[in-house]
Amino acid sequence: MRTILITGASSGIGKACAEKLSSAETQLILCSRNIDKLQNLKNKLESKAASISIYKVDVQKMDSVEAMFKDLAEGGINVDILVNNAGLALGLSDVENGDISDWDMMIDTNIKGLLYVTKLSLRHMVKNNFGHIVNMGSIAGIYAYPKGAVYAATKSAVKFISDGLRKELVDKNIKVTNIQPGLVETNFSNVRFRGDLERANDVYRGIKPLTADDVADTVSYVISMPQHVQICEITITPLHQASVDVVYRE
Ligand SMILES: NC(=O)c1ccc[n+]([C@@H]2O[C@H](COP(=O)([O-])OP(=O)(O)OC[C@H]3O[C@@H](n4cnc5c(N)ncnc54)[C@H](OP(=O)(O)O)[C@@H]3O)[C@@H](O)[C@H]2O)c1
Repeated sequence: MRTILITGASSGIGKACAEKLSSAETQLILCSRNIDKLQNLKNKLESKAASISIYKVDVQKMDSVEAMFKDLAEGGINVDILVNNAGLALGLSDVENGDISDWDMMIDTNIKGLLYVTKLSLRHMVKNNFGHIVNMGSIAGIYAYPKGAVYAATKSAVKFISDGLRKELVDKNIKVTNIQPGLVETNFSNVRFRGDLERANDVYRGIKPLTADDVADTVSYVISMPQHVQICEITITPLHQASVDVVYRE
């Protein structure tokens, strides 16, 4: 039996991971801010997974993350595999005109939230000398782009947190993987442009983007490797995307 915690499981890549990783040998822990969406997902997957626990968690808040881990500990549930997926981009703006509350939210969610969940997951992983942390980075963490500097910086932080952790944990049976997707069609752009569907759809204009399932397949692949194999980093893009801003559109 393996226990997998997926953050941001209510939508997109996190939801696809929950669907892909459901099995009779898996205890799933799903969290996000939207408990209704998680409940619907739980209802759908209940017969496939050994058990599913859902939590309303805002990863930006350490007390919210701690409350979930306290409840899990009381139920004797410990995390073996963490999929640190919750994240978002807000707006598209140069730094000079950037919205500070958007910056705060991206930094608090994508960097601090990821660290909070990682810290509490590691307690058991280190004690048990077993585990796998899969972080959802982005190709924006490798190549910055104009008007996306802050989002790119948060994903660059995810890369460096992953690299630092891997070094800290080198003598333990704990793997760290950073997955860096390019364009994936999810609710991501809709969130970024605050429901402006025209702008959101334009992101995927003329190109066949990755699906959330494609990325979930990658997560499933990295966690299925033999125990002696650690996949450190994977960059995955649609066929016609070569960098964050080099995209061939028909
Ligand atoms: N789509 C892309 O093109 C793309 C490319 C590279 C990397 N990524 C990364 O992939 C990850 C998933 O994004 P997605 O594309 O699947 O977008 P999505 O469909 O918008 O899903 C984002 C998920 O993150 C959760 N979330 C956001 N803020 C949260 C918070 N404060 N606390 C807890 N959960 C939170 C959302 O849940 P609630 O709203 O219910 O809280 C939702 O489940 C993100 O880290 C994103 O940066 C996406």
